[in-house]
Amino acid sequence: MERTQVGIVGAGPAGLLLAHLLHRAGIASVVIEARSRDYIEGRIRAGILEHGAMEALDEAGVGTRMRAEGLLHEGTQFLFGGRLHRLDFRALTGKAVMVYSQHELVRDLVAARLAAGGALVFEAADVAIEGYQAGAPLLRYQKDGATHELACDIIAGCDGFHGICRPSFGPAAFDRVYPFGWLGILAEAPPSTDELVYANHERGFALLSMRSPTVQRFYLQCAPDEDAEAWSDDRIWSELAARLDNDRFTLRTGRIFQRGVTPMRSFVAEPMQCGRLFLAGDSAHIVPPTGAKGMNSAIADVLILSRALEQWFARGEDGGLEAYSATALRRIWKVQRFSWWMTTLFHRFEAASSFDRRVQLAELDYVTGSRAAATALAENYVGLPLE
Ligand code: FAD
Ligand code: PHB
Repeated sequence: MERTQVGIVGAGPAGLLLAHLLHRAGIASVVIEARSRDYIEGRIRAGILEHGAMEALDEAGVGTRMRAEGLLHEGTQFLFGGRLHRLDFRALTGKAVMVYSQHELVRDLVAARLAAGGALVFEAADVAIEGYQAGAPLLRYQKDGATHELACDIIAGCDGFHGICRPSFGPAAFDRVYPFGWLGILAEAPPSTDELVYANHERGFALLSMRSPTVQRFYLQCAPDEDAEAWSDDRIWSELAARLDNDRFTLRTGRIFQRGVTPMRSFVAEPMQCGRLFLAGDSAHIVPPTGAKGMNSAIADVLILSRALEQWFARGEDGGLEAYSATALRRIWKVQRFSWWMTTLFHRFEAASSFDRRVQLAELDYVTGSRAAATALAENYVGLPLE
């Protein structure tokens, strides 16, 4: 049987950053991932880092490529009634966000892990956990036809929404399923405008984002079970052109080289701990991506958890670990509220009356016209501080 201090299930942003932070604090860990390295380094997901996430990556020594290749955005744009409105994050909060692909961050964290000589097991099958309620956590998995057992002091469940850690103890679940999804595409074309555009349109929500000076990322509100392959390139471009029609820029089109549909859901598990098992990131909570909070919440959780683990391993203090779930959840619920609110503000709801629709437009007019309301939005978007 092998041994380590922290057994980490899952090599997404949460698991990889946790392993890195623990390594810097002199705490040993093993990361067990079900997929291959190529798969996790190519998986297209989130794209926005909050101010605090950027700082945390810098502080942990893994922010160099993000600073060099990421696109710093000091504001964002809201489009409704055919007109663009800018929200100036820098002026409202003194902070900004970074456009940097999640899979690029995953690459940086995998590289840091391997450079540090840390254990990272890819393509582990039948991962199972036990003993965490009795103070003797054990991780079991199959690799290359052999069964491995890893005894640990702590298990970190960073295995995403469909992982095995949360279901293994069945915490209470709070959720909301939205009656729509997002069709996301990547297109070879320079950004049509400098900053993101969140569009509220009668045909449904659209988002213009980007990945680099030569690649744009777009999303279209669609049915939750939409077949992405049923959309021709022409249909995608004409729908984007309709929903993003505005008074300032024209849409730049190009070859579409990736597409997929993501259903929208809000979900929180409580508590995020059971004995010596601690959940972090999507394994404990997911948000609809309208507020750009998924990856950022995973990062926030592991910042809280790594500090608590440092106190425990270095000094035997268990206050941080005992407070972990409550501390993380307090922030998570505010992030849930913001993500739900942004989703409600921008999407077309089939059941909405003409009254509801006018209230939605009035709210957009209010948040873009009132400095107080814009500041509240901006401070959530750039990221709430950690306690
Ligand atoms: P994950 O990144 O999901 O990592 C979990 C890891 O655990 C994975 O590598 C998985 O392979 C592994 N794993 C799972 N089960 C096991 C097991 N049994 N054993 C071992 N390993 C296991 N957020 C945004 O803000 N904007 C977006 O546009 C956006 N788009 C998204 C699109 C999709 C399709 C999805 C699924 C999510 C999207 N998100 C988006 C959310 C964001 O990507 C997540 O919040 C973020 O990945 C959370 O990081 P994590 O490390 O907690 O989980
Ligand atoms: C993205 O670029 O993928 C992105 C940006 C902002 C969001 C969601 C996704 O709110």
